This record gives sequence, C-alpha cells and structure tokens, in this order.
Amino acid sequence: MPGIVIVGAQWGDEGKGKATDLLGGRTDYVVKFNGGNNAGHTVVVGNQKYALHLLPSGILTPGVTPVIGNGVVIDLEVLFHELEALAARDVDVSKLRVSANAHIITDYHRTLDKVTERFLGKRSIGTTGRGIGPAYADKINRIGIRVQDLFDESILRQKIEGALDAKNHMLTKVYNRRAVTCDEIFDDLTSYVERLRPMVADTGLELSQALDAGKTVVFEAGQATMLDIDHGTYPFVTSSTATAAGAASGSGVAPSRLDRVIGIVKAYTTRVGAGPFPTELFDEWGELLRSNGFEFGTTTGRPRRCGWNDTVLTRYASRINGLTDIVLTKLDVLTGIESIPVCVAYDVDGERFDELPVSQSDFHHAKPIYEELPGWSEDISGARSFEDLPANAQAYVRFLEERSGSRISAIGVGADRDAIIQVHDLID
Ligand code: GDP
Ligand code: IMO
Ligand code: MG
Repeated sequence: MPGIVIVGAQWGDEGKGKATDLLGGRTDYVVKFNGGNNAGHTVVVGNQKYALHLLPSGILTPGVTPVIGNGVVIDLEVLFHELEALAARDVDVSKLRVSANAHIITDYHRTLDKVTERFLGKRSIGTTGRGIGPAYADKINRIGIRVQDLFDESILRQKIEGALDAKNHMLTKVYNRRAVTCDEIFDDLTSYVERLRPMVADTGLELSQALDAGKTVVFEAGQATMLDIDHGTYPFVTSSTATAAGAASGSGVAPSRLDRVIGIVKAYTTRVGAGPFPTELFDEWGELLRSNGFEFGTTTGRPRRCGWNDTVLTRYASRINGLTDIVLTKLDVLTGIESIPVCVAYDVDGERFDELPVSQSDFHHAKPIYEELPGWSEDISGARSFEDLPANAQAYVRFLEERSGSRISAIGVGADRDAIIQVHDLID
C-alpha cells in the first residue's frame, strides 16, 4: 500500500542508509530519486560494513527491488564498480532497475566540478568533486546525456558534440585544461551499454504499477533538507531536490502516492563542506562528537564539522518535507556528556528568531540560543524499548520531539542494524 519517503533533516549523514535498511524487510522497492555518488550511506550488518554511494541502501535486503530514478545523475564507472563489489560479497544485485531518463555524469563533469571549485577559491562550496553540479547544470541547460541516449549511437554522438561545443571553450580558454574529444567520451560511455541494457526501464511506470498492486515503495533521498537546491543554505548546497518533493519528480510517481515522510535527525548536528552552521563547535566538544560518532565522510573521508542539535532546523525540515515521523539517530554518541545544550532559537544581531531566517546573511550571523538538558552516563546501546532508556535520555528525546514538530518514531542507539528502538510503526 504505502509510498514512504526517507529524507535527511539536517546537512546529510543523519543515518538515512540505516533507516532504509531498517524498513528493508517489509519493503518491495527502494528508489534513489536524487543526487548521485556524492552520497555515502554506511550500513552495518553484524560484523559486515557496507558503504553505498550510487545504489539505494535497500539493495542489501534480499527480495527488495532497488531502483535508480530519473532524478539521479549516474557515473557509470561507479555504478558497475559498486555492483561488482556487492556481488563479490554475495549481495544479489540482479534486480536493479535504472530509469531511461536518468542523466549521465561524464569525465568532463568531474573535471569541471574540480576546476570550478578551485577557481572559486575562498568561496568554494567544498563539493565532493564527483561532477554532480556540472551534470545537473547540463540537465537544466538541456545539453545533458540521458541513459536512453546510450542506445542510439548517432544520437549519442550528436549529444556529446553538442555538450562539448561550449565546454571545450571553457576548459581550454578559461580553465587552461586540454580539450575533450567526442570519441573518448563516446568510447567510454558505450563500453557500458551491454551491461546496462537489461537494467533500463520505464521506472516511473513500474513504480506506479507496484503501488497500484499494493506494494511498499521506499523513496530514499540522498543529501538532506539543508543541502536542497531550493530550500537549503544556497549556494552551499548540492544541485538536486533532496527534500520530499523530489521523491515524486525524481521517480515519476505522483505526489499523491506518497503516504509517509520520515525525516532522519541526528541527536546532534554535522556538516561536510562549506557554509553556515550556527551550532558548530570549534572546541573540545566538537572533537568529542567527531571521535565518539566517527564523524568522517563515507564518500570523501573528510572530517565532518560537528555541533549540538538544532531544533530550529528540524522544525524547518518538518515543515518543508511535511514529516510524519522522525527517526532520531546516534543518541548513544551523547552518552557521558553531563549537560547537553540544544539550540531552540537564534539570536541574529540582537533579534530573536524562532524560525529559520529567510535571509542568508541573517543565517550567517545566527547565534544559537541554547537550553541545557541533563545528560546520562549509562550505556544505552542495548536499549530496545523507550522505557529501557535512562530518564534523562528519555527527557532529551521528548524535548527534541516537542520542539521539532513531528513525532519521534524510532531511536538509533548504535551503528548496527539492530541497534534501534522502535516507538511507532514506520510502515503500517
Ligand atoms: P547517511 O548518508 O544519512 O546514510 O548517513 P552516513 O552513513 O553517511 O552516516 C551515518 C553514520 O552513522 C554511519 O556510519 C552509520 O553506521 C552510523 N549510525 C547510524 N545510526 C547510528 C546510531 O544510532 N548510532 C551510532 N553510533 N551510529 C549510527
Ligand atoms: P549523504 O547522502 C553530506 C555536500 C558536499 C558539499 C555540498 C555540494 O551521504 O547524506 P556536491 O558534490 O553534492 O555538489 O557537494 O554538499 N554533500 C553532502 N554532505 N552528506 C551527503 O550525502 C552529501 N552530498 C553532498 O560536502 O558541501
Ligand atoms: Mg552519508
């Protein structure tokens, strides 16, 4: 019956992969609808650790059909590398479906991503360097190459030539790089065609039919609300719709088919790359969160910037995404902190803001207004019901719930697949 969306409520790496995996056993399809291999989802199953980038996390559950939707940008080399690596670990990858309308990341997108970042200097975004922004720019400029174009050699050549026209001027005259030939791109892309062919489908049709037939479809966002191209901290964002609205446009399923929207919220906050972050900590507390939470990027290995939980952000994410539920992750990382600050509002040049300021300049100046909550020292990693949590941990969760605008339906207490407290059913 249901269409369930999973989105990040902060700046990414909230634990979306683990949440998707949690639903896996009761899911028929898992769809990635935005982004590309800029995402990094770590899922821990027993003593096995899986790092997924381009593939939806549902691929780890036997029986689930993983889908790469039309809203995704695909690096074919990464796709096949990831598939082979999973197959070598006995994960069944044979069910993967790939939208004929998804766009392709080419070598010139990766090059442009890196050189534009370098040219931005102090204003750089801190992208993952995977060619995401340039590939989406081509999509919007209507000079992108889609999966379906790979199956018509003459169309493919025309499209590559069209895309390279202006790009080679940019690469050689502005960025002082060598020109790219149509042949090298053509040869690279066509080398994947035969392996790709059986996976390609009208995924929007298949997913709509699956929902009609009463199947459960999970739409898994990459990135997060605050990295969304429209609703995030522009320009320090990614180039896709990472909010719930993107689940419809990025998969070809009507918005009215989406029944639940689950926001993933870390018990504290992290960010990778540049841009404003009001609760960021530059002291030993930030170091503590980073080391206790292993806050190093799954994709680039960069240390993540760390700060306290910010309920203004979560309230905003609840509104923008229409969250019906929250999965709160990494509560265990806060164990042992005597008193835990939680941001409840901002002070912007002397004025109190209870909601996210609409002006980026105000957001850059926002100073967190904190309330302090008493911490707990008991190990909570074995807790499997809300009542198992120490009273102060329960109070912390309740406080976040009251301020965040959505009910907390599950609580992560460890990295492992089973280390979760389920409070409300996420699927029924
Ligand atoms: P995603 O990009 O949102 O899927 O998140 P990442 O996988 O990039 O980062 C989340 C990290 O936190 C991963 O290493 C997970 O294994 C880990 N994780 C998820 N939930 C929990 C939790 O409740 N407790 C702890 N300690 N780790 C968690
Ligand atoms: P998951 O799905 C955290 C950040 C980058 C950079 C900005 C733009 O694992 O939560 P891009 O390469 O997308 O053009 O970079 O967005 N970023 C992420 N940060 N988690 C992610 O994905 C991210 N994907 C992109 O660090 O600041
Ligand atoms: Mg991640």
